[in-house]
Amino acid sequence: MAEMMIESPDEVVAYLKAQHNLIEDMFDEVLLASDPEAREKPFATLRQLLAAHETAEEMLVHPRVRREAHHGHAIVDARLKEEHDAKQLLSQIEKLDITSQDFIEELTKLREAVLEHAEHEEIDEFPYLEGELDVAELKRLATAVRAAEAIAPTHPHPGVESAKLNFALGPVASLLDRARDLIRKVIG
Ligand SMILES: [Fe+2]
Ligand SMILES: [Fe+2]
Repeated sequence: MAEMMIESPDEVVAYLKAQHNLIEDMFDEVLLASDPEAREKPFATLRQLLAAHETAEEMLVHPRVRREAHHGHAIVDARLKEEHDAKQLLSQIEKLDITSQDFIEELTKLREAVLEHAEHEEIDEFPYLEGELDVAELKRLATAVRAAEAIAPTHPHPGVESAKLNFALGPVASLLDRARDLIRKVIG
């Protein structure tokens, strides 16, 4: 994640849009990898990026839109449902053989769903932030998003979509995920 953050924009909407583009690129990198084994590394990066990005949106972006935007509840409920469904699909994909055709088919479905979800955020939520928050607030929110991403889980946790649950369970899930990742790396 560190290299993703170095050249990232300093206000929240540009930052999240840049991550949407990066997510699309990472999907393509996995799906177009030269051989099945070469999918491993970009898939790990994609999975971690998705987990961090959605966690930060659930903690900081959606609650703000829910509280303050016109029809905020309906807009955010729809986004949380999409995020939940995507996490569930990603959890299933994690269990598949990365060299299989099934993996490619399911990941292609996830790509479509995630990109559609990102487009909904860009149309229904981000213009609200840009319209209502001044530049200083947009920058402060970007700083908070970066902080949330730094301690976010590295794997999807379907069912943890509300801001409250992310605050309550996120740090524990994050520690466990990071410990598991490390152990897997060591034992191969
Ligand atoms: Fe999202
Ligand atoms: Fe997003």
